[in-house]
Amino acid sequence: MKAIMIPTPGGPDALLWADVSEPTPGPDEVVIDIRASAVNRADLLQRQGHYPPPAGASPYPGLECAGVIGAVGTGVTGWSVGEPVCALLSGGGYAEQVAVPAGQLLPVPAGVELIEAAALPEVACTVWSNVVRLARLGAGETLLVHGGGSGIGTFAVQLGAALGATVLATARAGKHDRLRELGATTVIDYTGQDFVEATMAATDGRGADVILDIVGGSYLGRNVAALATGGRLVVIGMQGGRRGELDLGALLAKRASVAATALRSRPAAEKAAIVRGVREEVWPLIVSGAIRPVVDRRLPMARAAEAHRIVESGAHFGKVLLTVD
Ligand SMILES: NC(=O)c1ccc[n+]([C@@H]2O[C@H](COP(=O)([O-])OP(=O)(O)OC[C@H]3O[C@@H](n4cnc5c(N)ncnc54)[C@H](OP(=O)(O)O)[C@@H]3O)[C@@H](O)[C@H]2O)c1
Repeated sequence: MKAIMIPTPGGPDALLWADVSEPTPGPDEVVIDIRASAVNRADLLQRQGHYPPPAGASPYPGLECAGVIGAVGTGVTGWSVGEPVCALLSGGGYAEQVAVPAGQLLPVPAGVELIEAAALPEVACTVWSNVVRLARLGAGETLLVHGGGSGIGTFAVQLGAALGATVLATARAGKHDRLRELGATTVIDYTGQDFVEATMAATDGRGADVILDIVGGSYLGRNVAALATGGRLVVIGMQGGRRGELDLGALLAKRASVAATALRSRPAAEKAAIVRGVREEVWPLIVSGAIRPVVDRRLPMARAAEAHRIVESGAHFGKVLLTVD
């Protein structure tokens, strides 16, 4: 089969579509014949040599895919050859085939095209596990999503709105109309506006009950300032650095909390539990049309370098898909 290799880490041209050996399924795994994968920010870091795959994971990039089951391990029940699926991966999505633990498979939601289903697993699992399972966002609460136009952001805005929360999102101005269409009631241009002031103005001075943050260090203090009493800040990205100053007095006065999580490095059993939760609680919202995959564009897998350049520039809205003929 072919896969995207990274013989020497570096810029987008480090990605090489080359012949490699095919995977075989372990006892609890299936092999998927991949029709599409999607670009995640983490793939850019892996390409640059800053984010090596966890032990045991495929060396090729790609944290999610959609395709058809091509082979089933001896211990797998409930899935069969020929079934269309999408999957959360620890790596290996930029390829024609991948082996994945059966616990990380999801059916393609009714009404979603097979290729587009590749846009769902990573964002659904990340957003649900942080916003719902960890931060316990409730109906009537306020959710602030940083990076609303990202793959993660476009999903978080929709999930928040579908759960009955009021959703605020930060993004460059050119993405605001599309964020409103997805359910954001307040959009904040972080390049010219102070998001703390904008959040306070939009919430009558209360602040956000939950903040999903992809910026990290440089936003830490201001994120705490933007939290409501009892608020929960969840950091999932460090685009603004890994260090910041935390005013514990401010946190204490608000009885607020700060958490940070990563999905890729979790053990398979934890990933399987998240996938089960997503199937039970999020998939029905996709089937009903309350949440839809947001796809910026599709490119053939062999043009992964071009896809990385687009995502690196931030020009995209939602997900960039990589397809296999
Ligand atoms: N911890 C986890 O388990 C986990 C899992 C998945 C993803 N993530 C993280 O989540 C983030 C999003 O991932 P993705 O793949 O969806 O990324 P993406 O599609 O590449 O989007 C990144 C976006 O960040 C926005 N941005 C940059 N600086 C910003 C700022 N200061 N304020 C607000 N927005 C800003 C940009 O939007 P504009 O065009 O509006 O500037 C850019 O489009 C990444 O940091 C990624 O590492 C974490």
